[in-house]
Amino acid sequence: MSLTVRLASPLRAAAGGQATLSFDATDLTSLTAQIAERHPELAARVLREGAFGPFVNVFVDGEDLRFLAEGTDLTAKRVIEILPAMSGGAVAEPIATLAQGREVFGSFIDETISIAARQTRDTVLFAVGSPSRAALERVGAGELARTVIERDGPAALGYGVTEGDPELRAIVANEMSNRGIACGAENIIVTAGALQAIDLAVRVFVQPGDVALVESPHFTNAIASLRNHGALPIEVPVDDEGMDVAAAARLIERTGARPRIVFVVPNFQNPTGATLSLARRHELIELAERHGSVILEDDPYRQLRYRGSDLPTIASVAGDRVQVIYCGSFSKVFLPGLRVGWAVAPVDVIARMTALKQTMDSSTSSLGQRMVVRFYREDRMAAHVAALRPAYRENQARALSALAREFAGTSVTWNHPEGGFYLWVRLPRGMSARRLFAVALEEGVAFVPGDAFGLNGGHGSALRLSFSSPTPERIDEGVRRLRRAFDRCDSGDHATGAEIGTTGSRLAGAT
Ligand SMILES: Cc1ncc(COP(=O)(O)O)c(C=O)c1O
Repeated sequence: MSLTVRLASPLRAAAGGQATLSFDATDLTSLTAQIAERHPELAARVLREGAFGPFVNVFVDGEDLRFLAEGTDLTAKRVIEILPAMSGGAVAEPIATLAQGREVFGSFIDETISIAARQTRDTVLFAVGSPSRAALERVGAGELARTVIERDGPAALGYGVTEGDPELRAIVANEMSNRGIACGAENIIVTAGALQAIDLAVRVFVQPGDVALVESPHFTNAIASLRNHGALPIEVPVDDEGMDVAAAARLIERTGARPRIVFVVPNFQNPTGATLSLARRHELIELAERHGSVILEDDPYRQLRYRGSDLPTIASVAGDRVQVIYCGSFSKVFLPGLRVGWAVAPVDVIARMTALKQTMDSSTSSLGQRMVVRFYREDRMAAHVAALRPAYRENQARALSALAREFAGTSVTWNHPEGGFYLWVRLPRGMSARRLFAVALEEGVAFVPGDAFGLNGGHGSALRLSFSSPTPERIDEGVRRLRRAFDRCDSGDHATGAEIGTTGSRLAGAT
């Protein structure tokens, strides 16, 4: 039976530049023996004493080799992936061209959320990065929409200008000036959420083969956009101070890569909640300046700070030294379903983004934009955001104390972000968050497993716990259920909890 071994890009040189190799092997011993015999240079990189070494991660049909029983029969297996086990520095493979169309990338975060949403039993959702029901209701969207339609008539439901409603562009420009970014309405494009702003910016700046520096773990949807446009993301580890810029510099030196673009979420990052420290903001700008890179600053959580003081935006610190495209959103502080976000950029970049948007949706929802404008005109936005902070702060405190109570005496750890929607929870080494997810669904609680936020299956023993949408009481209940699921996984009682595979975030021939 033929087994395909796929090599991550950094290993290919050791196999004469080949990305895939074929072997006739029925178990690991025969596979490693054949690698040693046919590809000694590769063997030197991936094997120690005849077995896969700790410096590589190996996946057998998507399952981490460490979780497979010794002597596993490989006859029914098809694909083995071998990746360098670096902390950071994982490099995505270039897009392959397939007969039935291009390979495309989506988000495993969204897939996990769909699985959680399909549950018929009562489930506490720590999976979605959405405002709470109370926050959504607080807007009074029905009344707001009615007012807009009554006042503006059919125009509220007609097509709009591609760049965005002129009044909204002016409002956003004013907000941006408050964030230290010198700009006028002509520097703003209103988009279908921050996601479209990111995708448009990527289309403007990235050519196939360009290197992108990205966080690890990262906001997968943005990294999928980079990959769909042919960028090669290089992962840079994130710690409590956000992206480790010194590690990025070392990676650049080691790989000789010249990053065209850096994607960074500076405040309360998705998924870890980490904030890029001021010193690192300066270092990042210096790094980008040295390499002529564009910085894509994605900042949807900025206004949701619960402790500490605001840090200056990267765009404001960079001034003219580096090209920074700043992306914002009304999703986290207003109504995500309206799909209203924006980008701030020089006028020529806005013109190119506008042309691209014309081939996508022509204009952002007129009704949605006008509802945002109306909310500002009624002078409600600042008070609304101010009311959200204590509510989410309470949710965060509740989640932290529930974790401390329920997971006392275990080696599970978590962080204490200063804002945002997320906590990053680390499971004991070797425990698969994907496996825990399957058992957790049975217990009635959902989160997003950590490998949704990494390239090549990284962060498999961590999870993102979003505390924004459940009520404080449901948070207590959800963490209790999580502990029950954890105990079942820990004791090996997860026979019914087969690891949930999604359709995968990588699709071939789909649109
Ligand atoms: C870091 C980050 N950027 C962008 C988005 C997308 O926001 P929008 O709904 O405005 O497209 C999200 C949503 O989860 C996010 O976490």
